[in-house]
Amino acid sequence: MKFALFKKITSLLELDRNTKYKVLDIGCGQGDLLGQLSSSMDSESYLVGIDEAEHLVESAKESYPNLEFHREKFTDSLSFKDDSFEIVLSVDTLECIPNKSALISEIHRILTPGGKIVIAHWDWDTQVYNSANKSIIRKFVAAFSDWQQDWMKASDGQMGRRLWSLFEGSGKFKGKIVSYTLLETEFREGKYGFDRLRDLSSLVKNGIIETTDYEIICAEMQDLSDTSKYFYSINSYIYAGEPV
Ligand SMILES: C[S@@+](CC[C@H](N)C(=O)[O-])C[C@H]1O[C@@H](n2cnc3c(N)ncnc32)[C@H](O)[C@@H]1O
Repeated sequence: MKFALFKKITSLLELDRNTKYKVLDIGCGQGDLLGQLSSSMDSESYLVGIDEAEHLVESAKESYPNLEFHREKFTDSLSFKDDSFEIVLSVDTLECIPNKSALISEIHRILTPGGKIVIAHWDWDTQVYNSANKSIIRKFVAAFSDWQQDWMKASDGQMGRRLWSLFEGSGKFKGKIVSYTLLETEFREGKYGFDRLRDLSSLVKNGIIETTDYEIICAEMQDLSDTSKYFYSINSYIYAGEPV
């Protein structure tokens, strides 16, 4: 699912195949963005991912042994020297960072003049499930968007729509905002809409979502999928810019 988004991010970078780039991915997770990006770059490019979660960094190292991954938790500063990278990327991480303005300043500091940033984020309030149970599904979308999961230090379900104001509005970058829409017509494990609905079972356990509502929606989605009527979508917004 993420690969179409990563392809869009790659296209925004307008890479030159013969240039050796230095690239940082902040909140790299399992390293898949860098893994995919590396196939579009000169093999001597230097790609490094950082993430606070040890298990994800270990998984990234195992999947992409030719790339570099470090455990690093951002609070107020990044460990890299000034002008270290030509490209800085971050996907679906910013909402978890309490001090966003510090991160934006640090990205600006470690980026070379003329470098590029691409920052992408889902906007959770744009989740759409085709459902006849309008009031229940609206509640579900809002509950997901407002949910700060245990591993998050902060959350903002509307992070996607704020990227433009955060980066362009900082006065440190000039760029553009584009969108990527994920569309799905199948409801099964591994599909984004299915997996997010399954995530919501945690909110049933803690009483935010009622069990009967949850059962109604799961049954409805399955039925819609079986009769070719299931529809799910969500928007990611992507800021692509250069330092001022
Ligand atoms: C939703 S995941 C996105 C992972 C990856 N970018 C992707 O698109 O698959 C957010 C990631 O940010 C990491 N993260 C959250 N807060 C962080 C922080 N303060 N410093 C470093 N990584 C952080 C999490 O561990 C998690 O891997």
